[in-house]
Amino acid sequence: MWGPKLISGVAIVLGANAVAIENVKRDASKSFAGSNLYFLHALPAADQKEYVETLAGWGAKVLRLWVTSTSEGCLKGSTDVSAIPPLETTVGTYDTTVLNALDNTLKLLSENGIKAIISPHNANSLTGDASCDAYCGKYTNVTTFYSSTSAKADYDNRLEAILTYESPNFGKQWKDLSDVIMAFDLQNEPLIKQDALISANDPDDWLCGRAGALRGILGSSDIKVATGGIGGSQYCCDAVHEANLLPKALACDALDIMSVHGYMGKATDWAYFITGDKSVLKQANAAGKHVMIEEWGVSTSNTDNFDKQVAVFNDAGVPWIYWQVVPGLDGSQTGAPSSCGYDSYEIGLNSPKGDVAGAIAAANSATANQSWVGYVSEKSGMGYI
Ligand SMILES: *[C@@H]1O[C@H](CO)[C@@H](O)[C@H](O)[C@H]1NC(C)=O
Ligand SMILES: *[C@@H]1O[C@H](CO)[C@@H](O)[C@H](O)[C@H]1NC(C)=O
Repeated sequence: MWGPKLISGVAIVLGANAVAIENVKRDASKSFAGSNLYFLHALPAADQKEYVETLAGWGAKVLRLWVTSTSEGCLKGSTDVSAIPPLETTVGTYDTTVLNALDNTLKLLSENGIKAIISPHNANSLTGDASCDAYCGKYTNVTTFYSSTSAKADYDNRLEAILTYESPNFGKQWKDLSDVIMAFDLQNEPLIKQDALISANDPDDWLCGRAGALRGILGSSDIKVATGGIGGSQYCCDAVHEANLLPKALACDALDIMSVHGYMGKATDWAYFITGDKSVLKQANAAGKHVMIEEWGVSTSNTDNFDKQVAVFNDAGVPWIYWQVVPGLDGSQTGAPSSCGYDSYEIGLNSPKGDVAGAIAAANSATANQSWVGYVSEKSGMGYI
């Protein structure tokens, strides 16, 4: 783990040589890139294989997966999505079908030198925006979900069920799969739409409390803990929509990675958040945290296209994970299926909408602003040290 805290700690304990070694590693660390595909585990094995092998061939290092149920049918260009039941239909009763499906996806990633970031739950399922899941049904009021002791205990039990799931493919619990899992998120977009809780800087310590629970279950594992995008997408310019690096989270020892989510549409808006007045790099570096763009997407109606927006990340050496490179056709392609749940940000594997392969190559050759040694797969040719 890199940061001012560690550097000074090393300097005190081991002297100047250790600092020099740390600096060499940091200089050699490259940025990286990948994609979200929250329903990858619900696709037929052959489709998953083609998707993962294509992205690996482009040099992608990370895919972000979700512990989520799916419905059978057409989703974002994939016409053959299968139905996967939720982990919990009743809070506290676990159906591990979804974890078993994800485990097969993890095996495929491992064979291709790609690591996973796993989101254990979607906050948009608390509000009814995505669906109303077991937690939404039980706690009704989202404020209660983020403040009550019993809701926190229920959620921590879910985290434990996921992290201690015994992998059929690897013969170990997921918490011990640091070769294939880079990080667990606290949740996808925790505190989204909870403006009062954001403004009060997470008064019930939901974020750091859950990070501590994850860290406790992980024990000595090298798997990292990421925020998952506090408050949802960043938008310029008011505090409630610039919450990805909430002060409480920056100060939380159990958190390793600050996840940034954003759908800016404009390269200059991104620059404001990356290197400008609200630089996430400056804030994360000052707090000794890692920072990555965990979700970003480009719609055809955006001011700036994919190439212009992604250049902001690669020029600054900050890793990015696109929302979403999809295996099927994106909505801008001729023959795209209708009624297929598009959100307009998709880029198909063979789509001219954005040069994803070129952008991943540029990320891989960019010097990272922070060292990612020990985070990304060493198997995938990062050329460390
Ligand atoms: C949820 O609970 C909070 C805190 O008790 C309260 O202020 C808020 O009005 C409630 N929201 C709804 C939609 O009932
Ligand atoms: C990382 O980014 C920050 C913010 O833009 C900048 O001040 C710093 O010099 C950068 N460090 C490296 C090693 O590129």
